[in-house]
Amino acid sequence: CGIVGYVGHKSATPILLEGLRRLEYRGYDSAGIAVLHRGRMKVTKAAVRVDELRDLVGDGSPGTIGIGHTRWATHGPPSEANSHPHFDTAKRIAVVHNGIIENADVLRAKLTGAGVVFASETDTECIAHLVAAAMESGAATLEDAVRIALTEIDGAYGLVVLDLRHPNELVVARNGSPIVLGIGEGEMFVASDVAALVRHTQRVVFLDDGELATLTADDFHTSTLQSVRTAKTPTTVAVDDADYRLGGHDDFMHKEMAEQPDAIRRALLGRLDERFSTSRLDGLRLDARELRAIRRVKFLGCGSAYYAGQLGASLVEELSRLPADAEPASEFRYRNPVVEHDTLYVAVSQSGETADTLAAVQELKRKGGQVIGVVNGVGSAIARECGRGVFLHAGPEVSVASTKAVTNMSVCFALLATLLGRVRDLGVADGARMVSALSALPDHVAAVLAQDDEIAAVARKFKDARRMFFIGRVRCWPVAREGAQKLKEISYVHAEAYQASELKHGPLALIDPDMPSVVLVPDDELLTKNIATIEQIKARGGPVIAVTNADLPEGLADAVIRAPRITRELDPILLTVPLQMFAYHLARELGRDIDKPRNLAKSVTVE
Ligand code: G6P
Repeated sequence: CGIVGYVGHKSATPILLEGLRRLEYRGYDSAGIAVLHRGRMKVTKAAVRVDELRDLVGDGSPGTIGIGHTRWATHGPPSEANSHPHFDTAKRIAVVHNGIIENADVLRAKLTGAGVVFASETDTECIAHLVAAAMESGAATLEDAVRIALTEIDGAYGLVVLDLRHPNELVVARNGSPIVLGIGEGEMFVASDVAALVRHTQRVVFLDDGELATLTADDFHTSTLQSVRTAKTPTTVAVDDADYRLGGHDDFMHKEMAEQPDAIRRALLGRLDERFSTSRLDGLRLDARELRAIRRVKFLGCGSAYYAGQLGASLVEELSRLPADAEPASEFRYRNPVVEHDTLYVAVSQSGETADTLAAVQELKRKGGQVIGVVNGVGSAIARECGRGVFLHAGPEVSVASTKAVTNMSVCFALLATLLGRVRDLGVADGARMVSALSALPDHVAAVLAQDDEIAAVARKFKDARRMFFIGRVRCWPVAREGAQKLKEISYVHAEAYQASELKHGPLALIDPDMPSVVLVPDDELLTKNIATIEQIKARGGPVIAVTNADLPEGLADAVIRAPRITRELDPILLTVPLQMFAYHLARELGRDIDKPRNLAKSVTVE
């Protein structure tokens, strides 16, 4: 979901609507705004996207203070009543909220018992009634009323409160769901993501969990739930508004795929050490002795970040000969895992806000595990909870389907694996091979991107398929899984990833002329085996799309997508890119909403 708020001297309505549009990628089944003007609160909300909300708002209120929200349904289906903002009975207090109130049922029963009639099915509405009750009981300030209300609430929140009787201030609070303040000249902004602010200011303050803030046009102050003032110095974010504009592309996914060579260059900047044929990752804050003490590496992430972690595990095992594996953070957090002190845990996340991954980090820290973050979102919850790690520097990613961030995850894992290898058995020559291959990676990715038309033609040829296999083995197994994930996410075509070696143990029964297989064929020691896999599929009438950097026998596959060779450990990173492009073009052929696939949100900050 997305939150935005404004207090200043300009008309709030256009600022809120534009902010919401920037946040829409985080959740978008309904939207709403509330703006104050001369003792009246003008509210527009509905189960619509932001563009339609804009039409409903029309000229809107000329007020200079307001709040807005885009919602991704958790409690209660998308509807006008369930859209934010939510209000108290007297419609004086308006609240927008991200997160989940865990004791909402208890609070609702209590409030209903006290005569409150609820207007929605949401957990958020409780907050508005609680704040109103605290005001009635004589809270000195709006901030105090919010503070009193929050003492009754269990769960996660990022929220903004607007009150008809306090027409010059917004009160903001955070616990487990991101909130960032934007500091302007004579105006203040608040949002759940810098995306909504950077058009107006790059000076920001990230609230910590358990913190509240009061914003007026000219000032802000922060304090804890226990009323202790906190001192926050604004930082400048290196993100600008162009990152959130399409810049000539039809959609953000296309733009972000195209940005990959530059994004990789940024991830490598200052991190390759040619002199010692290794990498430098100062943000890990681990010296050579500490690096050598690591006995195992475990990657934790969700969705594409998990698949990238699997690729990371394969790189670490191959280059450093340390046992390594990846597990979905969403599972790890619930299964009482054995936490070993000589294991390096790697929390992987584009947003840095995924609730499941954050919870896994917190569980690890509770049990004394050493955990680093490999995160794109600077200032994000996971980055701050870990306190050390590797930033992806992919730049903001807007499309729900992750592309450049996933690629940069793999690049950062290659750096980590090289570093861990070079303090162990990885020799100078192999270290130098990795350093030069990594430097060459951006240009090779650009060469794959240049085949946009060819890949689009292959996608067109297979656009009627309703199901597909993605086949890869060993190093390319995570690549196949990520390729299947991309296709599922944006085209809604059923895709299943399988290891080539496992096909004959069951799934081969599914092969027929209506089940195309995308087969990854890297030019490595398993080349002849992968060719044999293609022959097995062909023999059963299954169409094959080979994605390869090897020279395949003429006529072996029905379509071939070619990529350059770099070096065997990095080839899987390169082979991920044509699969993004294939999914992209197939989804376009089917007329899908590429950047905003149904039922998905860019970052899932609730369980
Ligand atoms: C959501 C998105 C996925 C993403 C996953 C992890 O489920 O829909 O595309 O891979 O979250 O997100 P993160 O921000 O932690 O990388």
